[in-house]
Amino acid sequence: MTAMTDDRSGLATPRPPTGDPRPIGVFDSGVGGLTVARALMDLLPDERIVYFGDTARGPYGPRDLDTVREFTAEIVGWLAAQDTKLVVAACNTATAAALEPSTSGPLNFDVPVVGVIRPAVDTAVRATRNGRVGVIGTVGTVQSGAYDLAVAEVGEDIKVFSQACPRFVELVEQGRTTDPEVLDVAADYLGPLVAAGVDTLILGCTHYPLLTGVLTYVMGSGVVLVSSAEETARRVFVDLVDRGALAHGEPVRAGHRFVASGAPASFAQLGARFLGPRLTAVDVERSGGRG
Ligand code: DGL
Repeated sequence: MTAMTDDRSGLATPRPPTGDPRPIGVFDSGVGGLTVARALMDLLPDERIVYFGDTARGPYGPRDLDTVREFTAEIVGWLAAQDTKLVVAACNTATAAALEPSTSGPLNFDVPVVGVIRPAVDTAVRATRNGRVGVIGTVGTVQSGAYDLAVAEVGEDIKVFSQACPRFVELVEQGRTTDPEVLDVAADYLGPLVAAGVDTLILGCTHYPLLTGVLTYVMGSGVVLVSSAEETARRVFVDLVDRGALAHGEPVRAGHRFVASGAPASFAQLGARFLGPRLTAVDVERSGGRG
């Protein structure tokens, strides 16, 4: 711990730990993980983010989980090589494939990795009043059973009702979050969850925070929506504070870096929908650096 001089007394007083100024790595199959990056920026404005969007190989939702697992290992390795202090797997499908015991078991990494499933599950288990929790996500996430297993570990006597909603990703990426077709699609997907009487719904996909209006309308305002993006940002905040690794006091507010494996221009255009003007203010780099 460094000492500094207190101007008033002239005595040397301890200075708070300087923390860890290294960036946080965030990755996703594409632009959707920017909802998580955005939640992180809101809670942790002094943290720099290195974001990797695997737009050349996404979406991950329809892919088999072993392939997604390999991609995840490559990308986390690349982010670790960028000297990140922590990596956030913003993608639910990647989290299900590589960080949860539901598949071949969680992978080991050289850098701490936070996934999006556990933070959302912890909140949902606390939020439910009737013990009936809904989960919506990609086909890969739902088929993995990762949420079901995580809920079973955390909350006794809680029933999980899962529903894959593959069309939501495509609709959100088209900028369609309010039109009548979106409402019809949502009513079809969510009908079984409404019928099951869930009182809490986990938004288990990067794109779903943009559909909160439609989801509230179809599920009814009595149903608590749990966003894995926001819950994960809170988990990262707590984790960094616990480890004395916040980058507080660092002048890094504009220092984010966005890297895409596909065309930078389309990442920037689509990404602006998820992140707002903060993305258009920076360049998107193209990288083959996914492994
Ligand atoms: N990022 C993915 C997820 O959260 C959704 C898009 C995709 O299918 O890759 O599961």
